[in-house]
Amino acid sequence: MNKKLKVVLIGAGNRGITYTDIMAKYPENFEVVAVAEPIKSRRDHVKDRHNIDEKYCFEDYKPLLELGKIADIAVISTMDREHYDATMQAIGLKYDVMLEKPIAPTASECLEITKSAKENGVKILICTVLRYTAFFNKIKEIIDSGTLGRVMAIDHTEAVGNIHQTHSFVRGNWGNSKRSSSMLLQKSCHDIDILEWLIGKKCKKVQSFGTRSFFTRENAPSGSAEYCIGGCKYGESCPYNAVKLYLDDKKNYWFRSTSTREDAPSDQTVENALRNTQYGKCVYKCDNDVVDHQTVNMFFDGDVTVTFNMNAFSTGDRTIHIMGTKCDLYASMNGNDTPIRIVDLITKKETVIPVSGKDGIVGGHGGGDEGIVNTLYDYILDNYRGNRVPEIEESCYNHMIVFAAEKSRENGTVEDVDKFLADL
Ligand SMILES: NC(=O)c1ccc[n+]([C@@H]2O[C@H](COP(=O)([O-])OP(=O)(O)OC[C@H]3O[C@@H](n4cnc5c(N)ncnc54)[C@H](O)[C@@H]3O)[C@@H](O)[C@H]2O)c1
Repeated sequence: MNKKLKVVLIGAGNRGITYTDIMAKYPENFEVVAVAEPIKSRRDHVKDRHNIDEKYCFEDYKPLLELGKIADIAVISTMDREHYDATMQAIGLKYDVMLEKPIAPTASECLEITKSAKENGVKILICTVLRYTAFFNKIKEIIDSGTLGRVMAIDHTEAVGNIHQTHSFVRGNWGNSKRSSSMLLQKSCHDIDILEWLIGKKCKKVQSFGTRSFFTRENAPSGSAEYCIGGCKYGESCPYNAVKLYLDDKKNYWFRSTSTREDAPSDQTVENALRNTQYGKCVYKCDNDVVDHQTVNMFFDGDVTVTFNMNAFSTGDRTIHIMGTKCDLYASMNGNDTPIRIVDLITKKETVIPVSGKDGIVGGHGGGDEGIVNTLYDYILDNYRGNRVPEIEESCYNHMIVFAAEKSRENGTVEDVDKFLADL
């Protein structure tokens, strides 16, 4: 018979509910036994979904952790700046932890969490969910099979999308780095991580450029209103009109629940959010400070050169072009059936590999959300035999590449990652 793993959830927001809703589909594997979440409707969602006794439902993680270790796994999915304290306490209680990315917003906190996890002998699985998608697993399999020859260079783009950018990184939770972290850390640590995993070698040097150049007050159309709902004269033509995006589009549960911070938002609560929070503000007049476009150049062991490009100015996509000595590979993860195309450099023969059907893009993050929850089960029980789960040291090193890239972007330098680490 399966061992059932007990889970406590700290932070029942979008991510925490996503993971524990998936766990509810596998009751033979997981039992969510406690929740800490200050927002009642979110806390109640988890309580009801998992039949949790009221005495194990808390408004804050501290009283939950004061109970001692009452489960096998702590899922920690609070906001970036709230990861450190809860994670350190959970590690101290010897919980295995599934921790949302980024590990923490500063390099020193990431290193401390990593050190403490090792000292306490606990597992920490960071939610770099792209590793669990059929799309990137197929690409990894192709690289490791040698089909491409020696990988020489990669060109990878995370086109966040203009609407997603304004929702999350202008108006939303991650627009201001003082409340969250840098764009590269909070959004693109996924991409830096996946590149390191695909290449299977260490990044030695890094250099970055990037600015916030478009979503700024100077670019606001002349005479535009502060809040869209006040009747801005650009309301009809502006793609970022919050009334259309949040109030009129009833199907966009993601936008409506994030803006209201409610589990079941009504039109009234959405309207309140548009009148009283940044979700209703003109995208050129928010307090955002994170970049809206950024490039990172990386030089890996084995002389592999990599260019990563994050930007807001697209409809949203991830594309990767891998150049090997025998073949090159091009693939786009656009949320539907997305074939991988391989072209032989000598014969010019093209091979198209479908990533669809049962192996394809199902559920959030191209199937990555479901994938990580399933992998978590085997990983915690020491039954996992694949190559996609990073040890915490590997996740931490990949975060260090990000911190070094940010140092480069701020100072106009080229950073040696090992030296950057040693200097810390
Ligand atoms: N893996 C991914 O692809 C991915 C995607 C989006 C976000 N994230 C990361 O996941 C984390 C959560 O993001 P989200 O979108 O779910 O945010 P969210 O705001 O929806 O959820 C965070 C929750 O934590 C709760 N919280 C705040 N203080 C608390 C406390 N003291 N005790 C318990 N709960 C508390 C909040 O009320 C909120 O409901 C962030 O670190 C974010 O960067 C990861």
